[in-house]
Amino acid sequence: MEQEFWQARWRENRIGFHEPAPNTLLTKHFSRLGLEAGQSVFVPLCGKALDLDWLLKQGLRVTGAEFNQGAVEQVFARQGLEPEIENQGDLLRYQAGALTLFAGDFFALTAAQAGPVDAVYDRAALVAVKPGDRTAYAAHLNRTTSTARQLLIGFDYDQSLMEGPPFSVPGGLVQTLYQGTHAITLAEERPADGRIGERCNALEQAWLLSPLA
Ligand SMILES: C[S@@+](CC[C@H](N)C(=O)[O-])C[C@H]1O[C@@H](n2cnc3c(N)ncnc32)[C@H](O)[C@@H]1O
Repeated sequence: MEQEFWQARWRENRIGFHEPAPNTLLTKHFSRLGLEAGQSVFVPLCGKALDLDWLLKQGLRVTGAEFNQGAVEQVFARQGLEPEIENQGDLLRYQAGALTLFAGDFFALTAAQAGPVDAVYDRAALVAVKPGDRTAYAAHLNRTTSTARQLLIGFDYDQSLMEGPPFSVPGGLVQTLYQGTHAITLAEERPADGRIGERCNALEQAWLLSPLA
């Protein structure tokens, strides 16, 4: 089961995807989404990424969804925030200040729970989704965020060299998933760091998605 796969990764501390600092494609390109302080950003499959802290520091309201409750709690702890915790169906909603994180399955989140969303930041989220679930993921993300603009960071590599996750998300796939709803621009691509870079010559790519008028 998908959830158990990820919970085991967290339990066994096999979280090589967690970066020790905010992602530099985020810090470099996020301003191109044109958000102002006070606006809101949704971070699907957010883990305990330091990207969340960086987004908060920009004065944004930040909402995320993550299977692992411990990861969610760590984000509040390192922010020095004492969250209110509410049971909302299959999800646990943690909220304090400008930060709201849902512990549970992103696919169970509704647009009403997500609240107004001005932009989406997807880093290592789409690439974490099983290939067979990607169409449903993109549709659910659009549904819960009213097809918001997006900064999408993923990997492109030869899938025969490594089993995912992370799964390869080549540009053609980004087009297939989002060309019906967004104009798509490649902001930057660079050799990926770490195992995926060494083993597969993967490229890390940042895509900007603007809703079609
Ligand atoms: C590759 S990690 C990326 C985490 C984070 N975005 C980052 O950059 O560090 C994918 C995360 O998504 C979570 N996840 C996978 N499927 C999920 C789902 N359906 N709902 C909520 N979280 C999910 C996993 O627990 C894992 O923490």
